[in-house]
This record gives sequence, structure tokens and C-alpha cells, in this order.
Amino acid sequence: MQSKGKLLVVDDEKIALKNLVHVLKKEGYEVTGAQSGTAALALIESQPFDVVLTDLKMEKVDGMQVLKKCHERSPDIEVIVITGYATPGSAVEAMKKGAFYYIAKPFRLDEVRQVVGEAMEKICLKRENRQLREQIESYEGRVKIITQDAHMLRLLEMAKQVAPTDCNVLITGESGTGKELFARYLHYNSARADGPFLAVNCGAFSEQLLSNELFGHEKGAFTGALALKKGLIESAEGGTLFLDEITEMSPAMQVKLLRVIQEREVLRLGGTSPTKVDTRYIAATNRDMQEVTKDGSFRQDLYFRLNVVNLHIPPLRDRGGDVALLCYFFLKKFAALMKKEVTEISQEALAVLGSYDFPGNVRELENVIERGVAINIGGAIEVAHMPDNLREFSVRAFKKRDGRIPSLEEQEKAYIRWVLNEVGGNQTVAAQMLGINRVSLWRKLKGYEMDGV
Ligand SMILES: Nc1ncnc2c1ncn2[C@@H]1O[C@H](COP(=O)(O)OP(=O)(O)OP(=O)(O)O)[C@@H](O)[C@H]1O
Ligand SMILES: [Mg+2]
Repeated sequence: MQSKGKLLVVDDEKIALKNLVHVLKKEGYEVTGAQSGTAALALIESQPFDVVLTDLKMEKVDGMQVLKKCHERSPDIEVIVITGYATPGSAVEAMKKGAFYYIAKPFRLDEVRQVVGEAMEKICLKRENRQLREQIESYEGRVKIITQDAHMLRLLEMAKQVAPTDCNVLITGESGTGKELFARYLHYNSARADGPFLAVNCGAFSEQLLSNELFGHEKGAFTGALALKKGLIESAEGGTLFLDEITEMSPAMQVKLLRVIQEREVLRLGGTSPTKVDTRYIAATNRDMQEVTKDGSFRQDLYFRLNVVNLHIPPLRDRGGDVALLCYFFLKKFAALMKKEVTEISQEALAVLGSYDFPGNVRELENVIERGVAINIGGAIEVAHMPDNLREFSVRAFKKRDGRIPSLEEQEKAYIRWVLNEVGGNQTVAAQMLGINRVSLWRKLKGYEMDGV
């Protein structure tokens, strides 16, 4: 029988542990038992688990520490804690720290079966969603960057040229412009495409944690280092390591990284001999690199090493034609993901999006469409389906001088007039831009007595 998921059961009471392992194995899970918190930590570090079921109160290493370790290892592990009758407070604490559920002693085995089943289901859903996302995001194994903007097309051409070289690339641009997407594009268009693409956000960790993530450690390097852990630099061997928010790296870490890039070898924490690595580095930041190198917070020598090629991605507000294109791309993506029949965006909604300046860039637009599809009950995405700031923006954008909000008819007239003006009065092109056929446009013009425009 194929395993329904990998489960770790932790309990320092031998008989209780044996019982739980037996019952859950019968449910079809691949179950490992750990008779102490210490044993559990070592197992979590060395093997992937889907769900961890742990007693809270144990000698030395308790359930809270097991929970913490699981979250450090992967945000995808679901942890269920078992609490004693006398410690309801710790159950609440565990839930606050992100446990999936708590089971109070004495419990019924049925309850355990059900909760474990639900946690596994959540994991499967997460995985399915991720697979779907990846399927849409990668096209024949390649990343799809949607654009028709001349500047962006030149940038893509440049990315295509540097992708197959082993050059380190620095990608700059405002938040949400697509820096990580470009990094993936470079990876999947290089000879390393079959190797791993790993990403790390340098701003999301303390110095010590980031060091552990990047360089790894030997077994016994510090208390709690129960097994050898390869760092991301080593794990990205033969592939690409994406260093996001690179400017957030501390000076000490910058020195260490520079050494690794120059020497092409990495020393794990607590190690004595370095390991050769063949990893390509792509770094990204939304900060001004000139500025941070000038003020000394970022080492110039590391900057030169990373910035062999620079790709600067323009903000979305400077890529006029891309908004509508991206709208339809995301609409298709989210309609498929959410299995909904939403295929259109109303002209009014497109007009609002077209004149908005998107401080959050493509990510913000993506969120707007995701939300629009989510709350839609079929049909087109309308202005009403947009978040408050955009709805308010649309009202502000269209407010007349006397403060009155124009009717839809006035609005449509103004919009048609604007589009016609943009295309020099060419009705065929204007109809295309408006997403209607020429006859419909002609009828509208006649109906609104705009024949003469
Ligand atoms: N041209 C594009 N075509 C299709 N999808 C895009 C495009 N640009 C960005 N995206 C999508 O927008 C979202 C944000 O992009 P990404 O994460 O690459 O931005 P970022 O610049 O790394 O942002 P941050 O600085 O906040 O980390 C992602 O879901 C990405 O797939
Ligand atoms: Mg990013």
C-alpha cells in the first residue's frame, strides 16, 4: 500500500508511543516513533516529515522545542500536540506558536485518527496548490515573463544572452517588479536548468540563522547541532542560489560570502576542511546599490562580484501596455486555479487599473486579480470587485470638477473619446483596444451622438 504521508510520533512514555505508532500505521501512514524530544529533533533535522504528533510534557527537550524545530525546518510541517490534563495553558501557547491542533489527555484514538487525517489533508492541499502554481508559472520548464513593453523586451533579450553564461547577476528594481521571476528565468534558460534553484531572503533571518542557512554546520558544531546540515550554498550545487534582499546582509556575512564566491568553496560551521561548490549566484535588491556601497553598509568588492551583469527592472507604471496584458494572464491563471468561469475584465475596471500607479507593481496587480476572481460569482471582474483603495481611486480619478460622480454613460463616452484620441481617430484600432468589434463601436458612437469625434 502506498504511504498516505510521513508521520513522526513523539512520546516519552514507551507504551503510549507504541500504541500510537501501531494505530497510525494501520491508517496507512509511514510512521516513525521517537521516545524522547532529543531523538525527535535529530529525526526532524535529517528526514522530511509531513505531520508531527508530539507529547508536550517531556524530560529535557519538550514538545514546544519539537514544534519550534519543525517550523525552523519547514513551514510545511504540521504539528499536533498532546497535552496533559493539568496543563491547558501550554496547549494555548502551542496553538499560538503555530501548532495545527491540540489533543487533550485522556484522548480517544478516533480523535487522533481524525486530527492526523485533517493535518495530512491540509498538507496535500498545500502541495497540490503549489504544483498547480508551478505548472502555470513554468511553461515547458521555462518561466513566463509577460510583457510587450519595449524596455522590458530589451531586458528579456539581455537576460536570454547572459542566462547560459555562468556570470553572477544583480537584479534591481522596486518591490514586486519581478526580480525573482527574472532570476528563475535566468536559471531555467541556463545549462543549470536541471539543477536546483534555491532562494533565500537575506533580510528574513538573524545573522546567526542566516549563516546556518547559507553555510550549514557540522554535527556537534553547537549545542543542538545533532546532525550535519548542508547550507544552501552547498545544496544549490550545480544550480543557482538566489540571494534576495542582499543589502540586508551583515558586514560579517558579506565577508564570508565574498570568500565563498572567490574561492568557490564553503566551510560549514564547526568544519575544518572546505568543500568545493559549483553554484551560480543571482542577487536582488530594491535598494539603491550605489548608495549602500557609498555609505559603507555594503562592501564594494562583493558588489563588484555580484554585479557582473545588472538587470534593472522598471516599475509597472512605466510599462503602459503591460497592465491589460498582465490582467488577462493572471485572470486565466487564477480562474484555472480556483476552477471558476471568470474570463473577462470590464472596460471600466481595465480603465481604472490602467490609470493607477501600482506602488506594489506586478505583485499588487496580481493580488487585485486574484481577489477579483475569488469574490466573483461568474462573469467579468468589475470595479466593484476591486479592493477599497482602487475603488476609491477610481472615484477620485473620475470625479468631475463640481464633485459629482459621472454616470456610466458619461464615463464610457469619455473613455471612448480618450482611446480614439490616443489612436489618432482610427476606429478599427480603437475598437481593438476597447475589446469590441468595429460595428459595436460604430453603434456606440452613433448612439452617443459622437459620430463626429
Ligand atoms: N512580467 C511578469 N509576467 C508574469 N508574472 C509576473 C511578471 N512580473 C512579476 N510577475 C509575478 O508577480 C509576482 C511578484 O514578482 P516577484 O516575486 O518576482 O517580484 P520581486 O521583484 O522579487 O518582489 P520583491 O522585491 O517584493 O521580492 C510573482 O508572482 C511573479 O510571478
Ligand atoms: Mg522577491
